Amino acid sequence: MRKVVFGDNLPVLRQLASDSIPLIYIDPPFNTGKVQKRLHLTTTRAEDGDRVGFKGERYKTALLATRSFVDSFDDFTAFIEPRLREAHRVLKPNGTLYFHIDYREAHYCKVLLDTIFGRECFLNEIIWAYDYGARTNKRWPAKHDNILVYVKDPQNYVFNSSEIDREPYMAPGLVGPEKAARGKLPTDVWWHTIVSPTGKEKTGYPTQKPLGILRRIVTASSHAGDVVLDFFAGSGTTGAAAAALGRDFLLVDNQHEALVTMAKRFAALGGHVEFEGFDPRPYQLDARQPALLQPSLLESGE
Ligand SMILES: C[S@@+](CC[C@H](N)C(=O)[O-])C[C@H]1O[C@@H](n2cnc3c(N)ncnc32)[C@H](O)[C@@H]1O
Repeated sequence: MRKVVFGDNLPVLRQLASDSIPLIYIDPPFNTGKVQKRLHLTTTRAEDGDRVGFKGERYKTALLATRSFVDSFDDFTAFIEPRLREAHRVLKPNGTLYFHIDYREAHYCKVLLDTIFGRECFLNEIIWAYDYGARTNKRWPAKHDNILVYVKDPQNYVFNSSEIDREPYMAPGLVGPEKAARGKLPTDVWWHTIVSPTGKEKTGYPTQKPLGILRRIVTASSHAGDVVLDFFAGSGTTGAAAAALGRDFLLVDNQHEALVTMAKRFAALGGHVEFEGFDPRPYQLDARQPALLQPSLLESGE
């Protein structure tokens, strides 16, 4: 199955069979657009108070604080929690979830995922480090994202360590020539450039993630022929990595712009990708980016 669905991901998830998906990667938008500001007031009795209360007494109110941060997280939790519960349900018994999130929210999300999966099912926190864009000199410039990795069963999960691309040792002189030539398995800190605004990989979708990051995830945690699910698909990076590595995919997004981007991106796969709720053909007649699916491109951008 290579399928792209246009719509809200929650009903789509609810239709999927339990224990059916080997690998899920998601990169949800943190800002749900429903940020609220809740006012915190204190009330004291005062002759000239602006409010009238019990037995006609007058009270003065003063603003203590607004709690927009907490509230925005409450909103995000209400949005993401049912989707994460569905993700847990649909994962195969030996399946893995990669949850890509902003460093400011990662700690709250870890607590939420611990409650859904169980703390013992937490496998890793991957730090994706990059070095791009403006930098402050008022604190340490923040140049990383977090990817929380959970498995459904800590005793039985897929991790193809021998297939993962290897990295040079930092001190090759300390490990001997044979090991130095082979390189090492990457640690949980991944240095990788962002999608270059001028590079060939760029689709124009604002939150597009690098193929190199997805290729590593798909290689490590799935087998050829497996279905990889991304229900916040955006530009379809997960599908592009999955297809190039011989996996199938199921992608969901509720933004028209994302579907247009995926239609163009998957044009090179022709009729092998099914679109539901969206006609890709008008956007595929003029697809200028079929090269995005070439496996050789997956090797670049490191
Ligand atoms: C950060 S972007 C994902 C980017 C993607 N990883 C890539 O490489 O292009 C998050 C995506 O989630 C989608 N989204 C947000 N809420 C959704 C929902 N309820 N159902 C489906 N998609 C949703 C947005 O339209 C957006 O494209």
